[in-house]
Amino acid sequence: MNEKIHRDAAPFVTRVRVRDFRSIATCDVRLEPLTILAGFNASGKSNFLDALRFVRDALVLSPSRAVAERGSLDSLLHRNTSTGRAAPSFLIELHLAFSSVQGEATYEIQIGRDPDQERPLLVLTEKLRLISREAHAQYSIDAISGERIVRGDDLPGARLGPDELLLPVVGRLTPYDTVLRALTSMRFYDLDTNTLRELDDTRVRQTQLGERGEHLGQVLGLLADQHPEAKESVDGWMRWLVPSLLGVDRRMQGDFATIEARFWNGDPIVPFWEAVNAGTVHAGDPHVQVFQREQLSEGTVRGTGVLTALNQPDALAGGIPLLAIEEPELAIHPAKVSGLLAAMAEASHWTQVIATTQSSDLLTAEELQPSSLRLVEMAAGVSRIGELSRKTLQVLRENPSYLADYHRHGQLRSDEEEGA
Ligand SMILES: Nc1ncnc2c1ncn2[C@@H]1O[C@H](COP(=O)(O)OP(=O)(O)O)[C@@H](O)[C@H]1O
Ligand SMILES: [Mg+2]
Repeated sequence: MNEKIHRDAAPFVTRVRVRDFRSIATCDVRLEPLTILAGFNASGKSNFLDALRFVRDALVLSPSRAVAERGSLDSLLHRNTSTGRAAPSFLIELHLAFSSVQGEATYEIQIGRDPDQERPLLVLTEKLRLISREAHAQYSIDAISGERIVRGDDLPGARLGPDELLLPVVGRLTPYDTVLRALTSMRFYDLDTNTLRELDDTRVRQTQLGERGEHLGQVLGLLADQHPEAKESVDGWMRWLVPSLLGVDRRMQGDFATIEARFWNGDPIVPFWEAVNAGTVHAGDPHVQVFQREQLSEGTVRGTGVLTALNQPDALAGGIPLLAIEEPELAIHPAKVSGLLAAMAEASHWTQVIATTQSSDLLTAEELQPSSLRLVEMAAGVSRIGELSRKTLQVLRENPSYLADYHRHGQLRSDEEEGA
């Protein structure tokens, strides 16, 4: 079985431009196969991810439901803290690369208030431009001028409501299907310890880890059955993260699945790594002790969630083009956080990975490429998202160990800020 599809091409989302969305007045951010968004609490990291997630939700549900799930349009429109006034609309523009069809696309939506207040929102513009080896296609809808330009393949004469998007309609057709499928398959993980531990009814079969950590037991079981190499890889990373841990598995309780963990019981005659190398790691071994879900530490449970998200079957098979993880280092011992970074770097060969962090620990890891870092800073109520300045990058190239100290002391400077 082909376990891991390596996809060393460009990341799926190569660039993100946002205007007037939450705390972001404007940003223009290039993304890498692995991107770390680093910034202090409430600087705007989640808001940036939410711009991407909003596009996903608007396409899967509808713009109105994507807004309703976030409260109201008012809470999404950027509010100027000094005037207290909110912008009339927000815009999100994504630049995409498709290695499968050797293509590129840009997709842009602009959402604003309905001046007649009949609807919760209006789709002011929606634009798609797609260029691939096989097809050129584009459409553009501009509600302000009432203009509707469609070129390329014939589009069905879809009657769109003023609060609806065209892509979910035309996404049934080639080549639009490639764009729709990829955008709707992006996943945004914000893992919750209780959800990761919960009992999950296996009569509803699940193959993907839920975005709060639902179905962890089922997905681990699926990995063990169908992708043993990937399951062993998850266990291998976990051994690195948690002392004496041998592996985490699905546990069945009637029709319900949850997790349990195998630990080495500390027999001094057979040291841990010797036992692992000898394959003495299975639940039946007298030196292996099994612990139940409620006995497991938060770090064990959360670490398993992060590693399972990265190595789940759909991600390995290229079915999740972008996988974002909020604060993966939470509850992980600072000395072990570099292992998580290495696991994310590995996974970035089969899915684009974005992680947020407010910890310096992730930044001390040798594996971190300063070029994959994006700094998120809040100044006067406005988030700024930038790459490290050229000067900072140069210093760090000579002294990589400065990175974490810079961050801890708030001395990292992005390009924009230096104004050079
Ligand atoms: N519509 C808005 N206009 C201006 N600021 C906003 C808006 N919505 C949220 N914010 C600000 O965004 C900040 C939180 O950003 P968030 O992305 O959650 O931070 P973090 O970096 O911790 O993930 C809050 O301080 C909040 O005031
Ligand atoms: Mg956050």
